[in-house]
Amino acid sequence: KQDTYILGIETSCDETAVAIVKNGTEIITNVVASQIQTHKQFGGVVPEIASRQHVEQMTLVLEQALKEANLLPSELSAVAVTEGPGLVGALLVGIQAAKAFAFANNLPLIGVHHIAGHIYANALVTELEFPLLTLVVSGGHTELVVMKEHGDFQVIGETRDDAAGEAYDKVARVLHLPYPGGPHVDRLAMEAEEKVSFPKVWLEEGSYDFSFSGLKSAVINYKHNAEQKGEEITPSAVAAGFQESVVEVLVTKTMRAANEYGVAQILAAGGVSANKGLRTALKAACEKAGIPLVIPPLSLCTDNAAMIAAAGYHMFLAGKRSDYALNGRPGMEL
Ligand code: KG4
Ligand code: ZN
Repeated sequence: KQDTYILGIETSCDETAVAIVKNGTEIITNVVASQIQTHKQFGGVVPEIASRQHVEQMTLVLEQALKEANLLPSELSAVAVTEGPGLVGALLVGIQAAKAFAFANNLPLIGVHHIAGHIYANALVTELEFPLLTLVVSGGHTELVVMKEHGDFQVIGETRDDAAGEAYDKVARVLHLPYPGGPHVDRLAMEAEEKVSFPKVWLEEGSYDFSFSGLKSAVINYKHNAEQKGEEITPSAVAAGFQESVVEVLVTKTMRAANEYGVAQILAAGGVSANKGLRTALKAACEKAGIPLVIPPLSLCTDNAAMIAAAGYHMFLAGKRSDYALNGRPGMEL
């Protein structure tokens, strides 16, 4: 059987990324040019600046990936690119590059959902076993997704307001930590000797949805009240309390869904799955329940193109193709 090499391109937010993946599982090359240093000074991603930096980086990253892989374009099987969701200007840079490369080399073009990519990052570390449940926790998404087979995504719960990563980044801002704040809140929480108690939001009984904006407000109010009284807050205690509230709700709902759907595997996906508190709690809960847990290594949790190539591989096998009318879809549904 001939090997299938998929070239993946990802530019939905602030990472310009190109990767080549063999047979949906083996990373040949995975190049990520991060813009974090640029956006840091603004405390968040500035969409117009992101688009412009993607334009500057795109060709360089693509060239580097091809060079590292030591493959000819004719040895590739298809080009997979993030179609959405994301920042439209940023998405368009990757999509145009994918179209040009596919056209010039006579390769099929496949538009991939960014969250499908995050889920398929797990296919790069293990063989997926169905039915499976993925806890998707990124800067833009918090979702519980059940998959009964490749390409079949059933969203059984999602956030009604802020994404988990967004809540982390906002709380980090309140604590004057640099952007992106998630890793800093995580580190502080790990160092904490005490914990402030914050509410845990469960929503209606049986719901798999999430809500994090109330928790974020609780942290803001806590700091405000302390300031009014002229008291100092302990940032690590705030971080630990916030993290406990987020992690407990995420893990409890994940395990309840895993039981209800009788899944063979639980996966974690997205930038927040890099969180040490979440990884530890999820691991303990899965061990207790006897359900295998898969969490990608940190470099595959955050945005990258290997995950897009891995998801694209299964779409390629399923015969899915995009045409040259492919457009960025900022609000694309899974
Ligand atoms: O998946 P991702 O790289 O980009 C999106 O598609 O959104 O996720 C980025 C998010 C940011 O909000 C960042 O603060 C968060 O993931 N993050 C973390 C950690 N590492 C990254 N949040 C909590 N703890 C971490 N260790
Ligand atoms: Zn992402």
